[in-house]
Amino acid sequence: ASNKKLLVLPGDGIGPEVMREVRRVVDWFDKRQAVRFDLEEDLVGGAAIDAHGVPLADATMEKAMNVDAVLLGAVGGPQWDSLDFNIKPERGLLRLRKEMELFANLRPALCFDALVDASTLKPEIVSGLDIMIVRELTGGVYFGEPRGIEELPSGERRGINTQVYTTSEIKRVAAVAFDLARKRDNRVCSVEKANVMESGVLWRDEVTKLHDAEFKDVELSHMYADNCSMQLVRAPKQFDVIVTDNLFGDMLSDTAAMLTGSLGMLPSASLGDIDETGRRKAMYEPVHGSAPDIAGEDKANPLATLLSFAMMLRYSFDLGEDADLIETAVKNVLNEGKRTGDIVAPGATMVSTTGMGDAVLSALDHLAA
Ligand code: NAD
Ligand code: IPM
Ligand code: MN
Repeated sequence: ASNKKLLVLPGDGIGPEVMREVRRVVDWFDKRQAVRFDLEEDLVGGAAIDAHGVPLADATMEKAMNVDAVLLGAVGGPQWDSLDFNIKPERGLLRLRKEMELFANLRPALCFDALVDASTLKPEIVSGLDIMIVRELTGGVYFGEPRGIEELPSGERRGINTQVYTTSEIKRVAAVAFDLARKRDNRVCSVEKANVMESGVLWRDEVTKLHDAEFKDVELSHMYADNCSMQLVRAPKQFDVIVTDNLFGDMLSDTAAMLTGSLGMLPSASLGDIDETGRRKAMYEPVHGSAPDIAGEDKANPLATLLSFAMMLRYSFDLGEDADLIETAVKNVLNEGKRTGDIVAPGATMVSTTGMGDAVLSALDHLAA
């Protein structure tokens, strides 16, 4: 098979720290398994602002459009918070998602047995947890027009964002959720606020229509977003696949992160449509941010980014067995009691970011031996 082209964008804060460990695993696969990577690294976010004055250079965008997959660390940090809104680090990430049309963001929340006690919730609530949040990623209030800050004649200012969804935007992301459900427990819960938002009424309507037309075999339920946030901490195992809009999905996936023990454990895949050549644009990134509070201290948990790379192997390259290998290595390392600070437990061995990378590599060596 031909080499897979990867664009790696470490970004800011803990981004480069966790990516360094993931690069070691990528190299391990490049050497040990059937897959070969052509890897290029570039700047995004604050790092790109410092170098080019913009959070994503056009040349980097161009590269992203032409590779098989993008792997991103995290963007943002206090040193760029006072910049003009349109050139903030986060805009670089949003531009990648929008221009690559990555409308379906898969955020699996899986609780490893060894981490049952790392969650702030009771063990019986989270043990065996395996849910998939499908977050719409290129629409809704994140991109809706009109938007901005206006000066009113009264001297007051007005901040505006618009929640907007079209039929096709809803259907394409719902189809992804139904397809995923068929490979899992065959249940989809669609989440909106149809009780107060017209965009929510349309969302519920279109999801139901698509279900009745093409996915009758999948069990569909509906839930208001406020109730869903409560149900996720009350009894998260009632869910299989959750499909929801951009903003609700952002918030619900951070909630779901804590069910797995730490935000430092949650990976994600952002997928576009399959084009004429059979290729699907895709970006893989952890759910967490640049964690300025621990950046530069070799403390961050690299597993969310590593598991994002595993998702790349599975979803972009159809290398499910290699993805399983990484997931098993992670499981074994956690079972050995190796923990970064965010998931540390009594009796466990605290390791640094680099130490976690070392542990995963030796677990991989062991599995492949
Ligand atoms: P955050 O996710 O960076 O951090 C939240 C908390 O979780 C912090 O206490 C942090 O130390 C901890 N944490 C996060 N990832 C961790 C890891 N891998 N290991 C151990 N602990 C971890 O969210 P925030 O503090 O609200 O945002 C910080 C910056 O990151 C902001 O500029 C924000 O816009 C940006 N951000 C970027 C992304 C992204 O790039 N995808 C996502 C979320 C936030
Ligand atoms: C995420 C982040 C981003 C979002 C920010 C950094 C733009 O919170 O990926 O979850 O809100 O989508
Ligand atoms: Mn978020």
